[in-house]
Amino acid sequence: MEVAFLLNGTPVQVSGPPTRTLLDYLRDIKGLKGTKEGCNEGDCGACTVMVTDADGARALNACILFVGQLEGKAVRTVEGLTGPKGEAHPVQEAMVAHHGSQCGFCTPGFVVSMAVGHLNGAKDHDDVLAGNLCRCTGYAPIIRAAVAVEADAVPEWMGADAFILAQLSSGVRGQTAPGAFRPANGDELAEWYLANPDGVLIAGATDVGLWVTKQLRELAPVAFLNGVKELQGVERVGDTLRIGAGVTITDLMAAVKGMHPSFAELLRRYASVQVRNAATIGGNIANGSPIGDGPPALIALGARLHLRRGSERREMALEDFFVEYRKQDRQRGEFVEGVTIPASAPALRCYKISKRFDQDISAVCGCFNVTVAGGVVTAARIAFGGMAGIPKRAAGVEAALVGREWSMATMEAAIPAFATDFQPLTDMRASAEYRLLAAQNLLRRYFHDLAGVAVNVLEVQS
Ligand SMILES: Cc1cc2nc3c(=O)[nH]c(=O)nc-3n(C[C@H](O)[C@H](O)[C@H](O)COP(=O)(O)OP(=O)(O)OC[C@H]3O[C@@H](n4cnc5c(N)ncnc54)[C@H](O)[C@@H]3O)c2cc1C
Ligand code: FES
Ligand code: FES
Repeated sequence: MEVAFLLNGTPVQVSGPPTRTLLDYLRDIKGLKGTKEGCNEGDCGACTVMVTDADGARALNACILFVGQLEGKAVRTVEGLTGPKGEAHPVQEAMVAHHGSQCGFCTPGFVVSMAVGHLNGAKDHDDVLAGNLCRCTGYAPIIRAAVAVEADAVPEWMGADAFILAQLSSGVRGQTAPGAFRPANGDELAEWYLANPDGVLIAGATDVGLWVTKQLRELAPVAFLNGVKELQGVERVGDTLRIGAGVTITDLMAAVKGMHPSFAELLRRYASVQVRNAATIGGNIANGSPIGDGPPALIALGARLHLRRGSERREMALEDFFVEYRKQDRQRGEFVEGVTIPASAPALRCYKISKRFDQDISAVCGCFNVTVAGGVVTAARIAFGGMAGIPKRAAGVEAALVGREWSMATMEAAIPAFATDFQPLTDMRASAEYRLLAAQNLLRRYFHDLAGVAVNVLEVQS
């Protein structure tokens, strides 16, 4: 596959397997060994690189980023952070000054994440660095280093990529190699997928990347969705928001922050910055995972799903898409175009229960959207992840609420319905009993939350 991108300020044209990871390319082909391989599954941040395109600079994990996704983008590795005369980047200086590195294995990843944060003026260092794991230094010196450079100017060499990018292209579109397709628009994608229904669509590759690095699968043919303009936008249509399937979790978080703050906060706890910068909401829906964080919130909002197959389009309530474990109502050659949600849902609350606060998959994710008028429940949409083989509505609980007084007594009367709605599994994240009890308690929490009681673990005081 022919791909052109900028690597540490120098244009490179790469031929080769479309699903070679950037990490393998950097270390094995280019000899750039500063980018480390820790987990090889997006969890540790040792492989963090900076990727710039028209939307700005972002930190991404190179271990689950395919070279085929990089057309027309700029990549900076830790080697590319230093100036033309070998000057250290301010964050590198600060890491030395604040003793931010001991064995140094994690340090290149930290330094790249910090340099991206510095470039973007980020001050939320805990969030910026939640996807970088350090086994020996401890985080306090690293955070001190990040704080120390907040006011420092961005080195001028860090801004050069955007200028060169405008002139960069491999000149190759569409079928870039026998097994690799790069559609530029929805029509090209629809035509290709109809002709290649066994092909693999690659959006952010935060799932598909692991099929390659962990399951050692050969993927072909593949289509890269990141060039399909129609899938990328978020558009306000009347009192709804239409979200393209290719919108990243980072961009979705920004889009819903003002209108659905609880959903945005749930997304902030979705993996890490590096994963959110790659993962798309379309991939999060299409993979049909029972523990994905997007679907419960979207179902509670009453999202409509938009599907396309060739020139045919259809839409459905999102909950109807999930049929059974890993089985969705999706035909061969059909792809997700986007979802539409209401722009307003003041009673929406989303709660993620996981072992770690950041960078962890949900054991239980409960999303509640109950409408109360004149003290009586008039509508209820309650959806859970982690409680069944699919993201699922709590139909029995909803029925036990609607038409009843909005009171704690009504909540308690609805609690037994959880056991008929859900028979959760025991796995490494939680036992069945824990999941059921946690879900029941989330209904109680929701009642208190709407009453204005502080229920967030970060807000509760002893
Ligand atoms: C370290 C790590 C942490 C994670 N943490 C979380 C978490 O906290 N919460 C969470 O919900 N998930 C988490 N995930 C899972 C993952 O990020 C999500 O499932 C993600 O949204 C998938 O999106 P993607 O764009 O990366 O999909 P991809 O990996 O590109 O694709 C996933 C699947 O969807 C298909 N697909 C993609 N786009 C479309 C489309 N438009 N139409 C039809 N099919 C399509 C692909 O063919 C593939 O089958 C994590 C993953 C990693 C690696
Ligand atoms: S090697 Fe751990 S995130 Fe890439
Ligand atoms: S300095 Fe050793 S892992 Fe971070």
